[in-house]
Amino acid sequence: AMKNLPVLLLLSLAVCSALPLNGAARDEEDSMDLVQHYLEDYYNLAKDAKQFAKRKDSSPVVKKIQEMQKFLGLKVTGKLDSDTLQVMRKPRCGVPDLGEFRTFPGMPTWRKTHLTYRIVNYTLDLPRDAVDSAIEKALKVWEEVTPLTFSRICEGEADIMITFAVRKHGDFFDFDGPGKVLAHAYPPGPGINGDAHFDDDEQWTKDTSGTNLFLVAAHELGHSLGLQHSDKPEALMYPVYNSSTDLARFRLSQDDVTGIQSLYGPPPASPDDPVKPTESARPQTPAKCDPTLSLDAVTTLRGEILFFKDRHFWRKSLRTLEPGFYLISSFWPSLPSGMDAAYEVTSRDIVFIFKGKQFWAIRGNEVQAGYPRGIHILGFPPSVKKIDAAIFDKQKKKTYFFVEDKYWRFDEKKQSMDPGFPRQIVEDFPGVGPKVDAVFEAFGFFYFFSGSSQLEFDPNAKKVTRILKSNSWFHC
Ligand SMILES: *[C@@H]1O[C@H](CO)[C@@H](O)[C@H](O)[C@H]1NC(C)=O
Ligand SMILES: *[C@@H]1O[C@H](CO)[C@@H](O)[C@H](O)[C@H]1NC(C)=O
Ligand SMILES: [Zn+2]
Ligand SMILES: [Zn+2]
Repeated sequence: AMKNLPVLLLLSLAVCSALPLNGAARDEEDSMDLVQHYLEDYYNLAKDAKQFAKRKDSSPVVKKIQEMQKFLGLKVTGKLDSDTLQVMRKPRCGVPDLGEFRTFPGMPTWRKTHLTYRIVNYTLDLPRDAVDSAIEKALKVWEEVTPLTFSRICEGEADIMITFAVRKHGDFFDFDGPGKVLAHAYPPGPGINGDAHFDDDEQWTKDTSGTNLFLVAAHELGHSLGLQHSDKPEALMYPVYNSSTDLARFRLSQDDVTGIQSLYGPPPASPDDPVKPTESARPQTPAKCDPTLSLDAVTTLRGEILFFKDRHFWRKSLRTLEPGFYLISSFWPSLPSGMDAAYEVTSRDIVFIFKGKQFWAIRGNEVQAGYPRGIHILGFPPSVKKIDAAIFDKQKKKTYFFVEDKYWRFDEKKQSMDPGFPRQIVEDFPGVGPKVDAVFEAFGFFYFFSGSSQLEFDPNAKKVTRILKSNSWFHC
């Protein structure tokens, strides 16, 4: 079925170039243009100097169409069926769904809880106070579920600068006239970061007769706070504008709340709250400085260290003191929570993730095709039901897998288990074990995690050199 696409595309092009553009041919060309731009702008399709329809190899395009259909909750056909084209013609946010802000460098968060905003200029569609109150209400949406607070300033540089503009407006993302892109916003940071821009070629309204300013602002401010697009159609952070939203009953979806609280946590309990939220009512977020903190898995990834715990992970670069805290699903939607083990093969730029009898391979923010695979293809006997921890030894090009009080050694070059294993952990890693939760390498040392403690192990001297808390990397 996918093979149909290039033929169809070439056919339509042949018709278009041979005849004056009219009727069906014109429509078809418009659709191709729309699709090309949509995939380039929102799904990271490589910009190709060649016209979309003339590409020799259409498989990247088909793959992108499938990605888009999956993200937007459409039937995944890889073809431009009418449902797909219909959704692509709907007005939406200008921030990409994949790529750009979603690539591994990831979305930063504000390092403070009090933020300033400024409405730099206004649309003429609404009275000024209607704009002011739409923005205020949109910020309230996020204020209610986080520790964040906002105050308005009327001059100077605010964290969040709000402008209305048309077409070219001083950044690399020109607006496009009425319809299609409604607005865009930048993730937290200095300068243009955090800012929200609204396309003044839209008809902004208080109700839903035109484009509702409150709804679009609440979505864009979600980006200003560090959220990415959600693939849940009921979420505020879904990229497509929903004109049938019931404003009177507007509320954030659970997906929005979980997302923003994974970045900033829940609001502080007020001392005069008659009813305090119970622990179970709040999404459980592990506290990085909890002295009893244990970890599921730890690995390096492109020079950073990732510490996995339940549905979340901390991400630390050696240059920064404070680690970032994220939902695993916000980087890799198909990975499981509660991982068992993870390790990086730096020479192949791949991280392997283990849970139960399965493992996944990721490169940056992409889960590789063909995974998960079963752990037994690596050479484990059927009695092994899960891996506790894993580490790749760069010098020896071997991976050690820790299971209960034993370990296996895997040759990454030959892609097979070395003979003579398993061996007892204590024999070759004296002082470590009997069981380990996680392990990773830094500065030539192996760091073994077990419960709330961490052992620094020198693999050359074969001895433990320091005993640390499990959260020693978190600047507690
Ligand atoms: C608002 O300010 C932006 C940025 O300075 C500018 O590009 C835009 O034209 C202004 N819009 C209006 C309606 O004045
Ligand atoms: C739009 O919002 C309405 C009302 O809240 C909801 O029933 C509907 O499913 C939404 N449509 C989409 C495509 O999300
Ligand atoms: Zn958006
Ligand atoms: Zn802009």
